[in-house]
Amino acid sequence: MKTQPDLSEPQDRARTVAASLLIVDDEEATRRLCSDIAIEAGLRVRTASTTEEALEALDQYPADIVITDLKVPQLGGLELLRRLREHYPQISVLVLTQYGSISTAVEATRLGAADYLTKPFHVEELRRKLTRLIHEQELDQENRVLREQLRTRPGYGELIGLSSKMQRVYKLIEKVSQHNYPVLILGESGTGKELVARSIHFSGARRQKPFAPVDCSALVPTLIESELFGYAKGAFTGAIHTKQGLIESADGGTLFLDEIGDLPVDMQAKLLRVLQEREIRPVGSNERVSIDVRVIAATNRDLEAAVRNNGFRQDLFFRLNVVQIKLPPLRERKTDIPILVQSFLEKFADPARPAPVLAEDAMAHLTAYDWPGNVRELENAIERAVALGSGPILQSGDLPSNLQYGTPPSERAPASDEIVPLDELERRAILRALRESGGDKLVAAKLLGIGKTTLYRKLKEYQAHLPVS
Ligand SMILES: Nc1ncnc2c1ncn2[C@@H]1O[C@H](COP(=O)(O)OP(=O)(O)OP(=O)(O)O)[C@@H](O)[C@H]1O
Ligand SMILES: [Mg+2]
Repeated sequence: MKTQPDLSEPQDRARTVAASLLIVDDEEATRRLCSDIAIEAGLRVRTASTTEEALEALDQYPADIVITDLKVPQLGGLELLRRLREHYPQISVLVLTQYGSISTAVEATRLGAADYLTKPFHVEELRRKLTRLIHEQELDQENRVLREQLRTRPGYGELIGLSSKMQRVYKLIEKVSQHNYPVLILGESGTGKELVARSIHFSGARRQKPFAPVDCSALVPTLIESELFGYAKGAFTGAIHTKQGLIESADGGTLFLDEIGDLPVDMQAKLLRVLQEREIRPVGSNERVSIDVRVIAATNRDLEAAVRNNGFRQDLFFRLNVVQIKLPPLRERKTDIPILVQSFLEKFADPARPAPVLAEDAMAHLTAYDWPGNVRELENAIERAVALGSGPILQSGDLPSNLQYGTPPSERAPASDEIVPLDELERRAILRALRESGGDKLVAAKLLGIGKTTLYRKLKEYQAHLPVS
């Protein structure tokens, strides 16, 4: 079962009216045939029998698609195509050629025709080509809206997203950046905690001074103290120079204590002292150095629970938790997915070409998925799709295969006292294994401790419930 995208906030629907088509051909029979098929496909249709009529019609109001015969009177189809490319570059042009004149068709494609069809054509073929053009136009339209939104900076600094949950975050950033008190940023992995810390620093008065991130989870326990506080020459074997610590390097600016929940308890006491006394004493030194830093801390752990379990000092928690900013997981702001996707498509696209766009069903996969790795996971998925994708339109097959197996919410937070039917448990285990194996059934079977054929049989049994595209 796919989880539904959060539709509580309206998304921009790109097209509200039917696409419009202009048919240019001097043969009435062709005009009528094309017209019938186009109307059936839901298009608004106009016709012209000469290039002059065509240009006049477009002058009155534009079209999304033009079908033109190459032998149409006055200017001829190729010249019409040239003018359309010049004055109406957004129109997709489908060219009709005579049997045996493939070289003109090639010329038309070179001039920018979206496609061509050889007369006499099969009705089904025209229908297929028209449907494809309409679909591409819709995608293009949707992406234009997204591109336009991106240009107007839909977020705060580097942070992207317009959902109400993010708007609340921006308001808080704006407020706290004007002050100096400590901020504690909480949120799951990949929700943008570091970006928020940077935004606070770079929108405040300290922006010209250093922003010094310290990853508390990456500090080597035996070296933490000298890393943070620095050391004096001769403080220990190998200390041949005096070295400035990370805290001092942030002087005047912002000290970002990332993954603060991972700081060992004995260091927590020392850090607390620094924050209270606003001075540090480098290892092996008798001198105290006064420092002026703004402290921002972040963690993906439940710090309050850690305080209760004595894994985190309560006094340090109080000191850091003056203002708390909680970042929402991506699954709680799914309306931001399209604009994030657009920004990542542009970020990772080859700068020499227009950024690729995402097919509709690929976007549907992205909004149905629950993103346990949040924005970072989305960013990686798009980077990969851009690198491996085969053309200007990225299909769902270009996305990591685990996206095709969404995370049912029931699986994410199982109530401990809930009795789950065995077959449901089995189904969840299979989904989980498929996700972890990135869709590789052989690996999934191994994870489940069953044979591949058993997995195939079970998949068949559960097929009705599996969100496989
Ligand atoms: N709102 C956002 N808009 C644009 N990009 C974002 C946003 N949030 C996160 N990102 C991007 O996602 C990635 C992860 O963000 P960041 O490192 O800030 O997350 P984090 O919460 O610190 O994660 P972790 O807990 O794993 O350290 C970065 O590449 C960042 O640029
Ligand atoms: Mg981080």
